[in-house]
Amino acid sequence: MKKSKRFEVLENRPVHNDGFVKEWPEVGLIAIGSPNDPIPSVKVENGKIVEMDGKKRAEFDFIDSFLADHAINIECTEKAMAIDSLDIARMLTDINVSRDEIVKITTALTPAKLVEVVDKLNVVEMMMALQKMRSRRTPSNQCHVTNLRDNPVQIAADAAEAAIRGFDEMETTVGIVRYAPFNALSILIGSQTGRGGVLTQCALEEATELKLGMLGYTAYAETISVYGTEDVFVDGDDTPYSKSFLASAYASRGLKMRFTSGTGSEVQMGYAEGKSMLYLEARCIMVTKGAGVQGLQNGSISCIGVPGAVPGGIRAILAENLITTMLDMEVASGNDQTFTHSDIRRTARTMMQFLPGTDFIFSGYSSTPNYDNMFAGANFDADDYDDYLVLQRDLKVDGGLIPVKEEDVIYIRNKAAKAIQAAFRELGLPTITDEEVEAATYAHGSKDMPARNVVEDLKAAQELLTHGVTGLDIVKALHKGGFPEIAERVLNLLKQRIVGDYLHTSAIFDGKYNVISAVNDLNDYMGPGTGYRLEGEKWEKIKNITHALDPDKM
Ligand code: 5AD
Ligand code: CA
Repeated sequence: MKKSKRFEVLENRPVHNDGFVKEWPEVGLIAIGSPNDPIPSVKVENGKIVEMDGKKRAEFDFIDSFLADHAINIECTEKAMAIDSLDIARMLTDINVSRDEIVKITTALTPAKLVEVVDKLNVVEMMMALQKMRSRRTPSNQCHVTNLRDNPVQIAADAAEAAIRGFDEMETTVGIVRYAPFNALSILIGSQTGRGGVLTQCALEEATELKLGMLGYTAYAETISVYGTEDVFVDGDDTPYSKSFLASAYASRGLKMRFTSGTGSEVQMGYAEGKSMLYLEARCIMVTKGAGVQGLQNGSISCIGVPGAVPGGIRAILAENLITTMLDMEVASGNDQTFTHSDIRRTARTMMQFLPGTDFIFSGYSSTPNYDNMFAGANFDADDYDDYLVLQRDLKVDGGLIPVKEEDVIYIRNKAAKAIQAAFRELGLPTITDEEVEAATYAHGSKDMPARNVVEDLKAAQELLTHGVTGLDIVKALHKGGFPEIAERVLNLLKQRIVGDYLHTSAIFDGKYNVISAVNDLNDYMGPGTGYRLEGEKWEKIKNITHALDPDKM
């Protein structure tokens, strides 16, 4: 066949490097509505759910049992399930129906029913619903702070910059597992240099992650995974009960935590039972609810290549974020992994959460260039900061970031690098040189950083744990090292563990350690003139990008 020049150009566009697949329900490659998905149903006898989504109790797997016993409001379920799904869908978009009224119904539904309800909505209606249903009135944002070499000075500087750019939560992870205590220490000191009260975490294998939290290196945890089929849980030696136990361990030490799930994980693990991705995800969201956890990171997360490849997949991702809010939980809504080569496509995908606002629009905006992101990239990264600021300004939308001046970024990066240098010195860790401090101050990424002695660093990082160095020792080191203000901020974070207020749903801190959560900042959106509005001081900040012409200066 003679080739069309037009098709030749199209085939060379970035979107042609993405993977697409037609629906294949037998293996679970279908976003919503697999022929194997159950029909919604519920039956209650003697205060117990004896039938759910077409299955009798005797046929329940352990997820079904957990949901029937812990995740559904049994008193209301028969009444709620009897409401037509279209009617519930219309309530979601109706500005005259309050979030409160809807939550009473949606927390009494089965997984199949939740999917049937949201599937009545197109994406604009889902965004309207998300705007009303997210739990915290004020939207926010989370970032990733990692680098290819696990360089602690760079992590501290990047975290400090991210804090003044507006992120309320920050997470790191490791390239080499044994670096974990260094990464957690660096992101803690860096974040608190930028702004006191930013919450930090370090995503790791569960036992180490819990240990770092208990020792006071981290302020929250997020990557506690749950899945929609029994086989995937079993593959990870877990159950909904073991995950609930882990959740309680965090709560027992006053640490904020949320679970993680997302469409596509069961397909990726090869155990989707031929069910649709959203049906299985609805089960994960309900497992989270049943465990008593305040929130969930979902929106496919690390599996986005799977729903991203099938028809309606990006819509299903929005739907899973929405279901999380319908169950009255905080949602950290994804956008945290590179999934496409197309700038058009990645921007469109992010608009689904950016426009309505969520508790954390990104559950990982990359504060570094893509090559330094150890979570497999994020949908937006440090090189996109100015594009993102312009999107906020163009549309008058609060995406959680504020414009910053170059001199302020340089100043805060330098201060964080010096603070981690001092903390390392006081804790007897390997030297951070002035050359490293200078490099981190001006670096774009790890390619601009001098190499460190990996063997020496890894040994010292492990010794932090074997010597039982705690958050209080970090406070002391900062104080002795000449950074009393940062020491006090770290101490304040530790004190919050005892206060416990940041265990409330969707909690973040303002600059004065006041909790902003779904308790004191409950989303009250009910149409125009209500809910969160980008106005006043915040809008003045957001509109004031540094590269706009200024008539006063012409
Ligand atoms: N389902 C469950 N857990 C997930 N994670 C990422 N994506 C998913 C998903 N779709 C968790 C994993 C991973 C961490 C970054 O987040 O635990 O290690
Ligand atoms: Ca995250």
